[in-house]
Amino acid sequence: MSGFSPEWLRLREPADHRARDAGLVARLAAHLAGRDKVSVVDFGCGTGSNLRALAPALPGRQSWRLVDYDPRLLAAARGAIEAWDGKAKLAGLAVQFETADLRTHLARLLAEDGDLVTAAALFDLVSTDWLGSFVTLLAEHRRAFYTVLIYDGLMRWHPAHPLDGRITAAFNAHQQTDKGFGPAAGAEAGPFLAARLRESAFDVWEASTPWLLDRKELPLILAVCEGVAQAARETGAISDAEAADWLASRKALERCEIGHLDILALPRASIR
Ligand SMILES: C[S@@+](CC[C@H](N)C(=O)[O-])C[C@H]1O[C@@H](n2cnc3c(N)ncnc32)[C@H](O)[C@@H]1O
Repeated sequence: MSGFSPEWLRLREPADHRARDAGLVARLAAHLAGRDKVSVVDFGCGTGSNLRALAPALPGRQSWRLVDYDPRLLAAARGAIEAWDGKAKLAGLAVQFETADLRTHLARLLAEDGDLVTAAALFDLVSTDWLGSFVTLLAEHRRAFYTVLIYDGLMRWHPAHPLDGRITAAFNAHQQTDKGFGPAAGAEAGPFLAARLRESAFDVWEASTPWLLDRKELPLILAVCEGVAQAARETGAISDAEAADWLASRKALERCEIGHLDILALPRASIR
């Protein structure tokens, strides 16, 4: 099982969907326009949030393959998509669920048919070695690629707290510890991925897509802050007392910004 609960993914879904860059989605939809059928594979799908955000914007009869190594999340994805009111509006939407580990099944998954490879909130967890292999395979199979919500290292809190800078630095260091793929790329994942894609014959578009949260989403803000404080404490750079002090002050937060990057990459010289 992964460390991501269905409850956490549900809590963040509205902010995740709102953050997406409409320009990248429109460009992707234009690239796929005119096809009768579009097949999509979603890596690290969790409970299917990426499908719920993206499928309504894509053309054609869509078939999606949702891949995750956590069967509990795949079961939740199946239930959430069944209950999703957007499904009825997408004639012929077909969804398959596949339990697979991206560390060991990457080559097979990318070799299988797919007009589009996508993923949300995944790539800061993986290592740069894995990212390198991923881009090599993506280029070999000339797949279109769209990803959202790669954490970019930026957190802004209003009102500010004297510990904000050290907390962010400690959290960013924690983001680069091993999340199962070797030392994680963390906030370096986005620039690394974009650069490798450009070197590998892709046209690449990037967009800054921060979460902009205010007190209407206090439960999400507080859950984020708890995770950030916990991770910062685990690095040893922040003491338990400092983390507790910082966390206690978060209850008075008015708003915050958590930075992300979205990337669209299309094989160069493809017809679009
Ligand atoms: C931050 S969650 C994002 C989930 C979903 N994409 C979303 O946007 O809500 C990261 C996802 O990656 C999955 N994941 C992590 N490591 C994986 C691996 N080695 N193989 C397959 N899935 C993995 C987790 O189970 C989790 O569902």
